[in-house]
Amino acid sequence: MRITVLGSAAGGGFPQWNCNCRNCAGVRSGAVRARSRTQSSIFVRGDAAVDGVLFNASPDILEQIRSNPALQPARAVRDTAIAGVVLMDGQVDHATGLFMLRERGSPLPLWCTDPVEQDLSQGNPVLRVLGHYCGVRRERIVPDGTPFEVSGADGLTLRAVALDSKAAPYSPHRDAPVPGDNIGVLIADRASGRSAFYAPGLGGIMPALFDLMAGADAVLVDGTFWTDDEMIRLGLSKKTARDIGHLPQSGTGGMIEWLDRLPARTRRLLIHVNNTNPILDEDSAERAQLARHRIEVCEDGMTITI
Ligand code: MLT
Ligand code: MN
Ligand code: ZN
Repeated sequence: MRITVLGSAAGGGFPQWNCNCRNCAGVRSGAVRARSRTQSSIFVRGDAAVDGVLFNASPDILEQIRSNPALQPARAVRDTAIAGVVLMDGQVDHATGLFMLRERGSPLPLWCTDPVEQDLSQGNPVLRVLGHYCGVRRERIVPDGTPFEVSGADGLTLRAVALDSKAAPYSPHRDAPVPGDNIGVLIADRASGRSAFYAPGLGGIMPALFDLMAGADAVLVDGTFWTDDEMIRLGLSKKTARDIGHLPQSGTGGMIEWLDRLPARTRRLLIHVNNTNPILDEDSAERAQLARHRIEVCEDGMTITI
């Protein structure tokens, strides 16, 4: 399968419009060696397929489609390679790009869990608004590992699992998480038998989840924060990474420790990187530490062939 990273940043993107942290100011001025990034989303196609699955619809989607011509195969006067959209959660950075797809001539095939469907119909009624444009053909994801296929995305089988993370702030159950607020998806190519696990928002790793990750050829997982108190130390928030559903990379029980336990053959990539994270600075000690652990940092436009 081929995975195109359309966007690799967390909510706000990088640099964030109102931010002058070391990274954001540094990438603007050129003082920090780093690449700008749009909000996280990937596009996945089977080896022989033109059409594929869009995972998350970022507010940056129009720019992402323009930068990745494979998403516009131009077989008709109106066309797209997006066979369907799968949402990992109902957060602004993953769902509001749906508005940008409203010019479709037919209802948008949209795969999401019940809690995400509810949040996007009530707290942030994106789906109701889209009903006044192309409409949505909602398909239910049950996050229990049951295999499903997105019609038109040939060769791919998906399996979703509920993750320990957080619903959007506008969700009625923001502080009382329910299974399906956030999911991870195992994407398998039936022809090659190879698979990738995608989880841009991941607050903790349980044994069953680790086993799923260990069976994949590549994992693209939560790269939001380096330290649990990153936003607090910068004076930007009162909440820890774990408070908002993101497992930090460093420290005891952090993402680096988990990724170290994966089989040697597994490709490890971080995605959904917050603009404050020191790993964005390609010359940082933290970035060098990731390299020593054979952990890659996703960049916009990169293709991962598995
Ligand atoms: C998150 O995952 O916590 C988000 O990036 C929040 C947001 O989009 O504002
Ligand atoms: Mn996010
Ligand atoms: Zn910043």
